[in-house]
Amino acid sequence: MSLPTFTNASPISFVTPSAEENECQKAKLALLFHRYKDKFTTLPKENGWIVENLYMYQGFWLMSDSLYSVETVMAAQDTFQAHPNDIYLVTLPKSGTTWIKALVFATMNRNRYKNKPLSTHPLLVSNPHHCVPFVEDESLRTNPSYLDTHLPRLFATHISYTSLPQSILDSGCRLVYMCRNPKDVLVSLFHYVNKLRGKARGLMTIEEMFHMFSKGVNPYGPYWDHVKAYYKVSLEHPTRVLFLTYENMKVDTVNNVKRLAEFLGFPFTEEENAKGVVEEIVSLCSFENLSEVNKHGNFLEGVPNNIFFREGKVGNWSNHLTTEMSQTLDQITNEKFNGLDISF
Ligand code: A3P
Repeated sequence: MSLPTFTNASPISFVTPSAEENECQKAKLALLFHRYKDKFTTLPKENGWIVENLYMYQGFWLMSDSLYSVETVMAAQDTFQAHPNDIYLVTLPKSGTTWIKALVFATMNRNRYKNKPLSTHPLLVSNPHHCVPFVEDESLRTNPSYLDTHLPRLFATHISYTSLPQSILDSGCRLVYMCRNPKDVLVSLFHYVNKLRGKARGLMTIEEMFHMFSKGVNPYGPYWDHVKAYYKVSLEHPTRVLFLTYENMKVDTVNNVKRLAEFLGFPFTEEENAKGVVEEIVSLCSFENLSEVNKHGNFLEGVPNNIFFREGKVGNWSNHLTTEMSQTLDQITNEKFNGLDISF
């Protein structure tokens, strides 16, 4: 079966939810937690990074009692209905999720905004995470605007390949996986997690995080198992899964966006290439631009928009990890990725 190409994307809503909508979603989430409360308490448990605990579910560590959690993954597995034309952006947290969401959203929706003032573009008035909902985020996923039948729908997820809702696996839809050097992921997590832990839980040291991360105990980890599973599927089904790295994306964003657009069924025309449309998208989604747009305001209560933008660089790990930590992580990566063509 050949996959379709598109000229436009689904008319989704990308406005920041109102306080009333937030309250309503919180109530829905509380009901969901209640529904799944007995289903994971016997699972292996470890100290959490952001929230109190992590639970090992289907080979991966997930938070509990939180927006992205073992409960919401279980709920997605029970209820999420994929469509063959859907597109899923898959990442581990801190691998460039915000960036890839922005790039793909802007690429898929370019025709909708080309005749409108740039200042009204959703990526200039809201957070990329409000433009592309997570499969495991009940609050955005159950927003009526995402339930409409216009296709293709665009989602993101951090869920491991083995735990994806069965309907995603069965639908044959397209997935883009973006991974990032584990050392930069760890350092990015270090900053992100400590901003979210709050005074009551105290800060985690880089040493604590390094030890847990090396053992694979981090939200959605083990890092290596997550990456490896998607990498292997990308080799087996190259028309279904596109495997990218943050590092390569940084080196040549323009050509990677063209590749992404082809893969997703939104190829750039010769006229668009000549007009520099790809360069415009890359510039719209640049770290400099998006970090400025998201300087103020909150993505969620207690989660500022600017938390998703820190350095946006390759190799920032060298300012935070000791030589020994770096060597240990390199050694684990070499062992786990032995024989795979994954480099950063
Ligand atoms: P650093 O903490 O190393 O700066 P995620 O979106 O998966 O949460 O990942 C966040 C990381 O991506 C952060 O890395 C952040 O700065 C970086 N990032 C966010 N937006 C980006 C962009 N437009 N271009 C490049 N990197 C970006």
